[in-house]
Amino acid sequence: MSTTSSNNNVHVIDHPLVQHKLTLMRRKDASTNSFRRLLGELASLMAYEVTRELPLQEIEIETPLETTTGRVIDGKKQVLVSILRAGNGFLDGMLNVIPGARVGHIGLYRDPQTLQPVEYYFKMPSEMQERGVIVVDPMLATGNSAAAAVSRLKQLHPQSITFVCLLAAPEGVATLRKAHPDVAIYTAAIDRELNEHGYIVPGLGDAGDRIFGTK
Ligand code: URA
Repeated sequence: MSTTSSNNNVHVIDHPLVQHKLTLMRRKDASTNSFRRLLGELASLMAYEVTRELPLQEIEIETPLETTTGRVIDGKKQVLVSILRAGNGFLDGMLNVIPGARVGHIGLYRDPQTLQPVEYYFKMPSEMQERGVIVVDPMLATGNSAAAAVSRLKQLHPQSITFVCLLAAPEGVATLRKAHPDVAIYTAAIDRELNEHGYIVPGLGDAGDRIFGTK
């Protein structure tokens, strides 16, 4: 039985372990320590689903008994791109499952006048045009930062771009889908809505503050 429901390139990972851990994280009395640990565990579980379609190539190997053919992931190392700062809470858990991945970072802030995302940091590995990219940010809220990050990454012509978040608002999914219909979205849940402060509800609060204990 599949544990991912997919619609229009939007994949909701409803594996029981993912849903269980997400519920524990949502609770307002979860400590910084347990929030961070659960996010790491969830990131590892989600990485497993997100990488399901990676292409394989056959190689010849020697076992202690004979020569045989095995399958390994094809092509150059994947790139995990963290949208600062909350995306960093996702990285270690994903790297547990994809330890050879390269890592890029994008920093964006929202201009208070125009409300548009402005880039303040961008550092990527070399040879991006030969790599697949997985963008990570726990919360897909308005979708503006995610869409801006993907637009910026497309300038480097990677082979593919996938977006992974823990929670999404319907508004964020719609914004990212409209701007980048070619980008697959993976999430553990699509919540009811965004509130007037741009928070996902019921949500889990400010992911960055809860990961880093800054509130
Ligand atoms: N960013 C967060 O950390 N939480 C939200 O609910 C929305 C955006």
